[in-house]
Amino acid sequence: MIVVLLGPPGVGKGTQGELMARRFGIPRIVTGDMLREEVRESTSLGREASSYMSRGELVPDSLIIGMIEKRIVGDGVRKGFILDGFPRTVVQAEAFDRMLDKYGLVLSRVIFINVPDDDVIRRLSGRRICEKCGAVYHVVFDPPSVQGVCDKCGGNLLQRKDDREETILKRLKVYNEITAPLVAYYRDRNLLLEIDGSGSIEEVFNRIVKEIK
Ligand code: AP5
Repeated sequence: MIVVLLGPPGVGKGTQGELMARRFGIPRIVTGDMLREEVRESTSLGREASSYMSRGELVPDSLIIGMIEKRIVGDGVRKGFILDGFPRTVVQAEAFDRMLDKYGLVLSRVIFINVPDDDVIRRLSGRRICEKCGAVYHVVFDPPSVQGVCDKCGGNLLQRKDDREETILKRLKVYNEITAPLVAYYRDRNLLLEIDGSGSIEEVFNRIVKEIK
């Protein structure tokens, strides 16, 4: 099964992707995490991507497409994968179609999760991430047992730089102008599953599982 998760920043793609990966036994390919790793390791890709990311802008298509192609022919993806954060432009979606053809792969579904902008802002401004293991929390909706400390590994919980309000608004603008047209792109190809992202994490997950079945 090959699934794309589509939706505005902070709608819960990462949260739902992780639950789906566990339920369906397939890995997640998360472009945001891959890019943040490149930035941490200060690779040439990471150095180039860093300024776009901190401004809340998209990293150039040419960098992203090459990174994804390497990953989808790499290890551990034989049974399928969940793409979170790619494609994000029509150019990326067309390149992905060509990759699927080239490697004889079939895209099963595009899961489009949506909530109003106010919810996005609430979710992103309260998000905290473990600096050690990357686990994701929310100060109100999904808090750790001890404030500021990861339940899984005891690491410190930090706010992502691009989760400050002015950058969130920029990311939403970029999403609406550049990524949202992919909803029609995949609807026209009969691949789109529209999921209401409001309600608890569990409620959203149950909706996804019901639709996929
Ligand atoms: P990326 O890391 O992909 O950011 P994003 O799309 O903005 O998505 P997020 O990870 O912020 O949110 P999410 O939807 O995964 O939400 P989450 O589950 O964490 O990209 C970062 C940057 O990298 C981009 O700005 C760009 O520069 C670059 N980039 C990446 N891919 C690219 C590409 N293909 N092309 C070009 N550039 C690219 O949830 C958010 C919070 O809400 C959490 O705290 C969670 O606990 C909480 N939450 C989740 N579900 C619920 C719920 N149902 N109720 C209440 N709270 C909830």
